[in-house]
Amino acid sequence: MAGGRRAAGLALGWGCCLLLCCAAAGKLEVSMPAVVEVESGGTARIECNFYIPGNGSYTYINWSYIDRNNRVRLCHIAGSEILEENVDYKGRLSVGEDNTLSISRVTMQDARTFVCQVGAGSHGVGENRTELRVYKVPEAPEIVANPAGISVQSSDIPQIAHCVSKNGFPPPNITWHKNGEQLQPEEKMVKIPATLTRESSGLYTVSSTLFAHVTREDRNSLYHCTVHYWLRGQRHAMESRRINVTVFYPAEHVKLQVMPSSALVKEGDDVKLVCEADGNPAPVFSFYKRGLEDSWQDLSSLADTNSGVLNLHDVKKSSSGLYRCQTLDLDDMRQLEKDVELVVNYIEGVHVKMEPSSPLQEGDSVRLSCDAHSPVALDYQWRDEKGRKVGEGNQLFLSNLTFETSSNFSCKVIAPSVPGLEQSKQVAVAVHGKPRIVAISSPLYVQQDEVVNLTCKAIAFPRPSVHWNVNGTAHEYIENQHIASNLTVRVNHDLLRAGAMCRVSNALGISEKHIQLLVESIRKDQKTPESKGVIIVAIIVCILVVAVLGSVIYFLHKKGKIPCGRAGKQDITKPEARKDKIVVEVKSDKLSEEAGLLQGANGEKRPAADQSEKYIDLRK
Ligand SMILES: *[C@@H]1O[C@H](CO)[C@@H](O)[C@H](O)[C@H]1NC(C)=O
Ligand SMILES: *[C@@H]1O[C@H](CO)[C@@H](O)[C@H](O)[C@H]1NC(C)=O
Ligand SMILES: *[C@@H]1O[C@H](CO)[C@@H](O)[C@H](O)[C@H]1NC(C)=O
Ligand SMILES: *[C@@H]1O[C@H](CO)[C@@H](O)[C@H](O)[C@H]1NC(C)=O
Ligand SMILES: *[C@@H]1O[C@H](CO)[C@@H](O)[C@H](O)[C@H]1NC(C)=O
Ligand SMILES: *[C@@H]1O[C@H](CO)[C@@H](O)[C@H](O)[C@H]1NC(C)=O
Ligand SMILES: *[C@@H]1O[C@H](CO)[C@@H](O)[C@H](O)[C@H]1NC(C)=O
Ligand SMILES: *[C@@H]1O[C@H](CO)[C@@H](O)[C@H](O)[C@H]1NC(C)=O
Ligand SMILES: *[C@@H]1O[C@H](CO)[C@@H](O)[C@H](O)[C@H]1NC(C)=O
Ligand SMILES: *[C@@H]1O[C@H](CO)[C@@H](O)[C@H](O)[C@H]1NC(C)=O
Repeated sequence: MAGGRRAAGLALGWGCCLLLCCAAAGKLEVSMPAVVEVESGGTARIECNFYIPGNGSYTYINWSYIDRNNRVRLCHIAGSEILEENVDYKGRLSVGEDNTLSISRVTMQDARTFVCQVGAGSHGVGENRTELRVYKVPEAPEIVANPAGISVQSSDIPQIAHCVSKNGFPPPNITWHKNGEQLQPEEKMVKIPATLTRESSGLYTVSSTLFAHVTREDRNSLYHCTVHYWLRGQRHAMESRRINVTVFYPAEHVKLQVMPSSALVKEGDDVKLVCEADGNPAPVFSFYKRGLEDSWQDLSSLADTNSGVLNLHDVKKSSSGLYRCQTLDLDDMRQLEKDVELVVNYIEGVHVKMEPSSPLQEGDSVRLSCDAHSPVALDYQWRDEKGRKVGEGNQLFLSNLTFETSSNFSCKVIAPSVPGLEQSKQVAVAVHGKPRIVAISSPLYVQQDEVVNLTCKAIAFPRPSVHWNVNGTAHEYIENQHIASNLTVRVNHDLLRAGAMCRVSNALGISEKHIQLLVESIRKDQKTPESKGVIIVAIIVCILVVAVLGSVIYFLHKKGKIPCGRAGKQDITKPEARKDKIVVEVKSDKLSEEAGLLQGANGEKRPAADQSEKYIDLRK
């Protein structure tokens, strides 16, 4: 290039200066670039410019290259004639008008020094040389981590990874980096041996291995290698992918936990003791429970010693205690251990005391006291046999007991601090006494030869038995705490005359009630009442509706008040006015409902007070 510029300068005629210069030198000058670079496979162009003093022309140009201090001629140019001579370069060489030598399909072997020799007769011979450099960008570096993993306790410097970059020219270099920072060889700490291989193609494959000590933090480190190469006088670099390595380190800490949270464990729970160690690989786990006198019971057979989990099913109060997890590192046989206290919450010894404890009678009062043992604070609740809450606190006071209240109560003991921890205890509050007849079908309006049911209902504890003084088919049934008996009989003369007697008895006494049967005077239907039952019911319903309507209309017209008491008394004195057979159940909550029915049957408005007045004797 420089030579070309000089020639141009001469052509432009820097006369004086050049004349002086050439007069001084007075000789042939050949100029060539010192270095030409070309990528392998490409075409190299090597210029050769020359200056011949006195406007003279060259006689010949000899191109040759240097091989171990010897010159090997490539070609000889004389005048316009090009004499190719080198067989090795046959077909790859050409020389241009400007005397530039072109070499195509450059290989590594072409990386050598080329000489251009110019002969110019009297001016003698001049020459210059160019170093042809052939380059090849190496392939991207490939990195492979040590597949076996690396121990932090390794005494030798362990191998971390291996890196290869193939087919580069000139030979590239490899550097190593951890988390982006370059690693330098260090005595006894970091070694980076590299090998350079010349392939048959003349290209170089460079490989490098990183040896370095690791720490447990290096389990998160990322390593990579970088290949550095020259290209047109500049350094270039290519990075490999980043890799991590398996680092083995012993456990330093061990953690033992109760799952779920230990404060809330209760009897019957399934509990896990989870042991964790921060080593890699995980150590072997053993589990122990402290027994008496500081002895330790080995529970490892119940545990998964690889994952470090001890499963305790259906824990008991006795499962409480100090548990120990021990880890053994198989690399250095070092042991670590950790203890945890398991507290199994419980409620036990639930006990209900009844005061007085002697058999209770109707009208008595009783105090129930509930007691239980637990390591945690307890709440008490009382429920009746239907599960309704009837009280809170560890005492329940029941006053004015009746057969009806007699029931099973339960004391529910709850530990509010331990969800789900509760226990219950049932207690029977039995009110003992002689039977009380609560309902009787008297008076009963019947017809001769009719088949009717005589009904008698009573309550008592112990459970009483019901007897009738007349023959018939008796059916007994239990309703809540009551016992009821239906005696199916055919109405005859004796029965109409004497009525029937219901006798209810238990070990504590006897109660009796008489049933009076009255013949209905008004008959709409003479047919057998049994077979026409349905029709009768329908007719009765119609009559009821008409009666109610009638009474409503009557009241609307009159718009006056009828003294209640008088109306009720009138009714009692006129039993023949009735159209219905009546079973009166004397139970306070049903009273008004039945009163309504009776009112309808009578076709007159009668207050409940009147009913109770009439049937009050049944309760006594
Ligand atoms: C070769 O050519 C270069 C570039 O033109 C020049 O600087 C150098 O002096 C020459 N060398 C010789 C021995 O002529
Ligand atoms: C060089 O040659 C050119 C023509 O080729 C001519 O014009 C010129 O005068 C010559 N110079 C010398 C110094 O001979
Ligand atoms: C240049 O080449 C010619 C022809 O091959 C040869 O005769 C001559 O000796 C060569 N010159 C030198 C200096 O080698
Ligand atoms: C490779 O390393 C050698 C020696 O350290 C150095 O001379 C050369 O320039 C390096 N090559 C590259 C491409 O970095
Ligand atoms: C490397 O890291 C990835 C994610 O960061 C992880 O999945 C993989 O297991 C690690 N490999 C090694 C050998 O540690
Ligand atoms: C007990 O019950 C009866 C009937 O229910 C009632 O008449 C009486 O007043 C009650 N006595 C007390 C002390 O509550
Ligand atoms: C009351 O408890 C006893 C046993 O304590 C049981 O046999 C009885 O069936 C219970 N009664 C009710 C109504 O729950
Ligand atoms: C008992 O007889 C009465 C009156 O006939 C009737 O209403 C009741 O349904 C009978 N009870 C049973 C359980 O059959
Ligand atoms: C009488 O009582 C029996 C049994 O309790 C029952 O099957 C029958 O239906 C009752 N008869 C009437 C008319 O209510
Ligand atoms: C009941 O029937 C038995 C025989 O079946 C008889 O001896 C007895 O007199 C009858 N009692 C009444 C009250 O009819």
